[in-house]
Amino acid sequence: MGRRAPGQVSDAAAGVGDAEQAARRLTGLARRRQGLARALPLLGMAAVVALVLAGCGGAQPYSTLSPKTSKADDIQNLYRIIFWAATVVFIGVQAAIVYIILRFRRRNEDRPEQIHGNRRLELAWTIIPAVVLLVIFIPTAQVIYNHASAEENADFSVDVYGKQWWWEIQYPNIPGSKEGPDEHLTTANEIHIPQGADVVFNMRSNNVIHSFWVPQLSGKKDIIPGHDNKLQFKADTPGEYFGECAEFCGAAHAWMRFRVIVEPKPVFDAWVAAWHQPPPVPDANPTTADVNDTPPAFGVCLVCHRVSGTNAQIAQQGINANVESIGAGPNLTMFGCRHTIGAGILENTPENLKTWLEHTDQVKEGVYMPNYYKAGQIKDQQVAELVDYLGKLKPAGGCPPEQPFGGGTPVAGS
Ligand code: CUA
Repeated sequence: MGRRAPGQVSDAAAGVGDAEQAARRLTGLARRRQGLARALPLLGMAAVVALVLAGCGGAQPYSTLSPKTSKADDIQNLYRIIFWAATVVFIGVQAAIVYIILRFRRRNEDRPEQIHGNRRLELAWTIIPAVVLLVIFIPTAQVIYNHASAEENADFSVDVYGKQWWWEIQYPNIPGSKEGPDEHLTTANEIHIPQGADVVFNMRSNNVIHSFWVPQLSGKKDIIPGHDNKLQFKADTPGEYFGECAEFCGAAHAWMRFRVIVEPKPVFDAWVAAWHQPPPVPDANPTTADVNDTPPAFGVCLVCHRVSGTNAQIAQQGINANVESIGAGPNLTMFGCRHTIGAGILENTPENLKTWLEHTDQVKEGVYMPNYYKAGQIKDQQVAELVDYLGKLKPAGGCPPEQPFGGGTPVAGS
């Protein structure tokens, strides 16, 4: 607004009175002050939000700001460096803007001196960002290399298969049942690990790219078809940690959730021992637990789901399972002890299980599990039998003790 095209006649030369000119100058100044007064509270608010975010992160259970492993700590420290560097840059830039607005405000109608280039400034804005980037780069590279070597040295293996849209979890060094030691303990969406174990997750997918993320325990790691990725961490604080898929992988991506349950070694061992107890099947020899003794309606489930300790072993598992999860669903062993249904979408209660069986595709849009109830292949009576049977898929003595959320003394599960 203060610009005049070259050659344009100045107001003074056109004969405008001195008083009028001074008045106009004052109004312009007042307007600029007003603009500044409006901007200042906004700057203040931004600074407060930044400080609150930096300071209160520890209270958020599902947040990257409350790390619970040394690995997540390393990442948090990098974040702190970047956060405070960005804060200094932000405050510096805002202060410079305020200074320039005040120092170089228009005081008269004269054209300011026209300059081109400034070697000192150009050097400054090349060197300062280079130093800032170096300060971020060196510790970042160190952390990347340290974490990569930790992946090679970890000794407790867990295989993670990204499915659409759930997680298959295998323990390659723990047999799935007493009878079939060649089969690995295989579960879904709830990953039990012993406290303090140096765990390496071997991650595989044969469908699309997923990303394994437990914010409090580690950074994200992509699960890429045709390429095994590893992720390591050692969790020393018992508790239940929230995880999710962090790479868009199709319709139900947002409902590809999981939990990592970190428990003291004896509690973990009790969980494995419970796994090796065949489920109590009504009217059947508990050592054989023949699925012929399960409700007949369970026959349609067997095509996709296995139950360790029984002869329900038709469904595919692991990397060779069907790409789109058709014919390969979660292993249902100890289903009665699981916390959620449908990869975190419903709490595991008989009412919710009924809802899941009757309205599968409405509860979880895009799900590959067919709705046999809607198709008329199972009726209310069969749904009730299935809910009853699945709820009983737990050891005869009840679920193993478990670590409550946030750590503390183990409590007996129901
Ligand atoms: Cu799997 Cu997103």
